[in-house]
Amino acid sequence: MSTSVMSSKLLEQAIQDRRYLHEHPELSGEEYETCAYIRSRLESLDIEILDYHPPSVVGFIKGITGERTIALRADIDALPIEEEGNKNYISKKSGVAHVCGHDGHTAILLAVAEWLSKNRSEFESDVMLIFQSSEEVTPCGADLLVKQGILQEVDAIFGIHLWQGLKKGKIGLSHGPMMASADDFEIIIEGSGGHGSMPHETVDPVYIATHVIQGLQSIISRKLNPLTPGVISIGKVEAGTTYNIIPNSVRLSGTVRGLTYASVKLLRENIKELTKGICTSFGAKGEVSYIIGTPPLVNDLEQSGFVEKVIRNHFGNEKFALVEPVMGGEDFSYYLLKKPGAFVFVGMGGEKSSFPHHHPKFDIDEDVIPDAIELFIQLVKNFK
Ligand code: NI
Repeated sequence: MSTSVMSSKLLEQAIQDRRYLHEHPELSGEEYETCAYIRSRLESLDIEILDYHPPSVVGFIKGITGERTIALRADIDALPIEEEGNKNYISKKSGVAHVCGHDGHTAILLAVAEWLSKNRSEFESDVMLIFQSSEEVTPCGADLLVKQGILQEVDAIFGIHLWQGLKKGKIGLSHGPMMASADDFEIIIEGSGGHGSMPHETVDPVYIATHVIQGLQSIISRKLNPLTPGVISIGKVEAGTTYNIIPNSVRLSGTVRGLTYASVKLLRENIKELTKGICTSFGAKGEVSYIIGTPPLVNDLEQSGFVEKVIRNHFGNEKFALVEPVMGGEDFSYYLLKKPGAFVFVGMGGEKSSFPHHHPKFDIDEDVIPDAIELFIQLVKNFK
């Protein structure tokens, strides 16, 4: 176990940054003032800024050898929600608030940037600092940056989330799948309507829809390996106008979650096939529009092993937590589709952070900010 490399001044600045960002939240895709703030901090530290599509800001710092490049990512967007509570740094913008902790992520990466810029002789690899817009929406910021080629020169990428679901004092990850995909779909069942008293003269799409809804769950229970998690949920059913008219069509809207690329593909293909098959067998037409969202977040085993080693060596064995995968989504997964890397939860669950992410009273526990900064710095120092 080694001691912290940070000064108290650096930590004070991180808290100050975090509170400023918390008071001035911006929605996904609109983070222009946040970017201006980040940009001016990076410029004052003499950090090169790379040219990527705003409102994301990407900094670059050369290492001693520059043989490899490590990327660190923070998401910077807030949510459309009215913040509640009485903290003295509460959101100054009505209806917008940092209730996922991205203000903390941004402040942490700024502190890392400051430390790296002032200790350039202490790390070998080049470092890319990605302050990423639009984590919370589709299309998301990560996908956009990857499409712009941001990872071309990158060997590995790391990201954190301050995590209320993990106990304060722990830092951890899963080796392999860690967070779920989030796809949506819409099914239109086209039948042939008519009088409710004469069903034999119709092709009743409402009746057929009941079979489709039931059938979809058989994909989970009969197609997916029982040891592989997966969810299919129908959240919206739309049909008909009154008691005695069989409508022409039914529209079903639903969502799909999975933890591996293979399971998500299996769910997608089976939803299409089964819907078509059931509808055809009843003489109707079934069309599935599938909206591919965030892919599952799957940590690279070599890099997640590296993170575990850094946590154990630097903070001590008791700090490390092997995290159970969660069914929430995270657009960091787009980076991991392209390059190896790992996503890490920094635990903060406890008295100071007791409300779940996205709750109007959610707050981060600032006590864990130093560990998060230290983790990023140690990943850079130890990256080979
Ligand atoms: Ni988040």
